[in-house]
Amino acid sequence: MARVVGSDLIEEARQRGRIVFELLPGDIVTDVARETAARIGIRLVEGPLEKPAPVRSDGATALRRGLHRRSPKWVAPSRAAPTRVRRFSKIAFVGAGGVGGNVAHLVASADMADELALIDIAPGLAAATALDLNHASGITGTRARCTGGEDLALVAGADVVVVTAGRARGPGMTRADLIGVNARVIHQAAEAIRSAAPRAIVIVVTNPLDEMTVEMLRASGLPRAQVLGMAGTLDSSRFRHALARAAAVAPADVQAITLGSHGDEMAPIPSLARIRGRALDRFLSDDQIAACVQDAVTGGGQVVALKKSGSATIAPAHATMELLDHMRGARTGPVPVSVMLDGEYGISGVVLGVPAHLGATGLIGVEELRLTPAERAALQAAAEAIRTRLGL
Ligand code: LAC
Repeated sequence: MARVVGSDLIEEARQRGRIVFELLPGDIVTDVARETAARIGIRLVEGPLEKPAPVRSDGATALRRGLHRRSPKWVAPSRAAPTRVRRFSKIAFVGAGGVGGNVAHLVASADMADELALIDIAPGLAAATALDLNHASGITGTRARCTGGEDLALVAGADVVVVTAGRARGPGMTRADLIGVNARVIHQAAEAIRSAAPRAIVIVVTNPLDEMTVEMLRASGLPRAQVLGMAGTLDSSRFRHALARAAAVAPADVQAITLGSHGDEMAPIPSLARIRGRALDRFLSDDQIAACVQDAVTGGGQVVALKKSGSATIAPAHATMELLDHMRGARTGPVPVSVMLDGEYGISGVVLGVPAHLGATGLIGVEELRLTPAERAALQAAAEAIRTRLGL
């Protein structure tokens, strides 16, 4: 009988420490299982696999193995598609504060770039962080060379620029309260990128995220493929965390994404969320799901309220890494990211969080998921709110 391979089997394999899942002839693999495998780093290979040869074997065993390979039951494994993980030559960080510094730390530790350039207006901060990161290389063994300074010209030749510079929220502030002050910062960064790193893929992290991504596009003149906003990976992680806590399961058991704006019009997508491969209502009541949605929407604000000054730094850094991992081919499949829409989901001319495929050249394409009418309406409402705030 055909075996249905769902995400639960993939996740079980992962929990057993596997990085490869063997598919047998006739297996039916669900789309969710494929997505899960891509997300948690399990490679699906067509089996049955030839078991590794024992180091020593007697003649009878060798003969049996030879005969087995000639038997009609043996199916030659198809060659796995080569997954090439790229290395960046230079990643520049405009802003080396809480988020920028943490992303640089993760990037250096992952040894995914030859050179890191940190830039911050606070005197000495970027140079100090760069030196600090270099000092860790004797332990981490990273080959990334870090430099730091105050001059935006340090972005020169970068293939990726991560922009985190700008004011962070204080308690009681909305992200939208930062539009005026941070737009100026984005314009300066955009100028430098346009003249010194025009081929860079820009990842905007500065808030308000969607509006600042629009500003980066406008001021840099770069094509939409090169300008990405980081929010969806962060909000999705918060949503998954909330769902995992509510259902008392491990975060790896949860798949869920959040689209829309990185603000009050955030659109978590419960209809496509899965816990151990099953719909949310198998584990949670409607009220519990609504509370998880609310937790994702207010997650950033909860951190700001606790900290009193400054906002979250660790989860946003990991969420930025997730985009970099997609760009370098270490992760595959669609990932929520803020991009300028061009008719996708019936929306144009505004930046919004949507699932998209990324590569070394930035945006490859937006994936149009089947959403419920309410979820589609939430995306439309987010687009309208951003247009209004930007006076478009
Ligand atoms: C947050 C900020 C970074 O959501 O927007 O934590």
